[in-house]
Amino acid sequence: MSIVIAKNLTKKYGDFVAVDRISFEIEKGEIYGLLGPNGAGKTTTIKMLTGLTPITEGDAVIAGISVKKKPREVKKRIGWISSEVILDDELTAWENLEIQAKLLGVKDWQERADQLLEYFGIKEFKNRKAGKFSTGMRKKLEVSMALLHSPEIIFMDEPTIGLDVNTRASLWNLIRQINKDYQVTILLTTHYMEEADMLCNRISIINRGKIIAQGTPEELKEKYGGDVIEIELKEAKDGVLSDLESVGKIIKSEDKKIAIKVGNAEEVLLKVIGIVGQNNIKSLKINKSSLDTVFLNLTGGSLEENEEFDARRFYAMLRRARR
Ligand SMILES: Nc1ncnc2c1ncn2[C@@H]1O[C@H](COP(=O)(O)OP(=O)(O)OP(=O)(O)O)[C@@H](O)[C@H]1O
Ligand SMILES: [Mg+2]
Repeated sequence: MSIVIAKNLTKKYGDFVAVDRISFEIEKGEIYGLLGPNGAGKTTTIKMLTGLTPITEGDAVIAGISVKKKPREVKKRIGWISSEVILDDELTAWENLEIQAKLLGVKDWQERADQLLEYFGIKEFKNRKAGKFSTGMRKKLEVSMALLHSPEIIFMDEPTIGLDVNTRASLWNLIRQINKDYQVTILLTTHYMEEADMLCNRISIINRGKIIAQGTPEELKEKYGGDVIEIELKEAKDGVLSDLESVGKIIKSEDKKIAIKVGNAEEVLLKVIGIVGQNNIKSLKINKSSLDTVFLNLTGGSLEENEEFDARRFYAMLRRARR
């Protein structure tokens, strides 16, 4: 059963088309990823789905309800975690939950709030101000708030942005856990191939407002990926390149350094070694197909080129949080 059906969802700001007729369906219980670089339209898509910004064209049906026709009804059924700060630092964890309950109109929220704090292992800090929470604890509190009214689906806009490696890994676990234990469907956005690959059952890759590929991480890797074998030779040798062309696509040949894109590296490795000569190899490296190669193949650009913007946004977020 599809819990989200987005059909030709479009957002225009004046003449500018931020999201351009995107369609996708999310099955109940899935972790679904919207993957794309800065400005791709991920946040705008989430804002339309959660009723935070009007839909220009198209519609989305969430848990059977049209977002366009009944945005308020939809809001009751969904949870939302933004990439911006949503906690009030001056209030305790418990008071933050209380405000959330009032906003959502949940009565008898205390028992559920206690259970959630217990589940996330932060119950003993319930009377501590959120401003004194560590990053990981803040995330747990934010997720508790999103789960407070037992939503069927949670929207997470870049849940791991700005987190250090360890906190990011534990948040991945947490996302998997709540997906299982609370049977909540999750739609998350991310810049990170690795993240989408690790977490998501299915993914839409979005670029400049358009979906450019859809499928499971495996399908996308199979279709648009490919392993890359990088070899550095001791001595350049005539005829090597043309022989290697029978194995795969040469994507780099600089002096003694060669990179070949192949289907499955392990299957052709012996042949490649035979061609270049076993004793002529200075180094050899296999890069297995990843969503990075998928993005590269689809757009000719790498996601990582956008990292600089990430940092800027992160610091802007920090400054806002301190105010
Ligand atoms: N309120 C607005 N008015 C005009 N343009 C907007 C508005 N909000 C977003 N945009 C534009 O729409 C495009 C998509 O923005 P969006 O925030 O959805 O991207 P994103 O994929 O979330 O990017 P990021 O990874 O940086 O968060 C961008 O070009 C952005 O400048
Ligand atoms: Mg965004």
